[in-house]
Amino acid sequence: MRVPVIAGNWKMNPTSASEATSLALAVRDAADGLAGVTAVICPPTIWLSDVQRAVGAGRVHLGAQTMAADERGAFTGETSPLMLRGLAEFVIIGHSERRQYDGETDESVGRKVASAVAHGLRPIAAVGERAEERRSGATSHVIDRQVRAALAGLERLAGTGLVVAYEPVWAIGTGDAASGPDAQAVAVQIRAILAEIDPEAADEIPIQYGGSCTPENAAAYFAQPDIDGALVGGASLKADAFAAILHAAVDAPRHA
Ligand code: PGA
Repeated sequence: MRVPVIAGNWKMNPTSASEATSLALAVRDAADGLAGVTAVICPPTIWLSDVQRAVGAGRVHLGAQTMAADERGAFTGETSPLMLRGLAEFVIIGHSERRQYDGETDESVGRKVASAVAHGLRPIAAVGERAEERRSGATSHVIDRQVRAALAGLERLAGTGLVVAYEPVWAIGTGDAASGPDAQAVAVQIRAILAEIDPEAADEIPIQYGGSCTPENAAAYFAQPDIDGALVGGASLKADAFAAILHAAVDAPRHA
């Protein structure tokens, strides 16, 4: 039985440590007592230690939004996986905004996913087609390429803690969310690729949907047999909305 993973991607918000810790505390309080869901918040890296101190060990897990593949060296502005150890349990890799604005490629995403696993961090590998790719009917081709590249550095999937997030780029921050069945169809494709790589473990890997996920539409994703949670942007900045999505995951019928 896969436990759904709901991860809040705060992106470059909020802009002060005090706002970050208040939001984290509100999420912690909302998540308290919720069983059957893994609640993750991914604050900006600079607030990770403040947030960790504030929330302590418990129901809310912490993630980073990106990291370098390398451990140290001349990589101005980057954060090493060694620096994240002990602070973050998860790390989002290959978010479409990183691919678009920071030059991340399929190849670098693969290196980062492998590095995260090698350093005991759980990668949330994000994949998804752009609007023009969808229009031209290239979605399954893009997903195939991105998923294989993201996992290229892993010999097996069992024990890696891997999470895959399907985030159609056209749905991110637009309010134009994918339908539950459309997201499920891509999740099935992703799980089939996982099964080629590691047939034993494919069924254990949570596959999230992301892109304008809200309290209103979340249940439509969690009802799908191959969708095990969500990567949430805008709605993760409001503790009430994020809590409602956590509840939707808890209330959803479970799939083995
Ligand atoms: P959104 O962002 O929920 O605001 O669409 C999702 C994401 O970018 O991970």
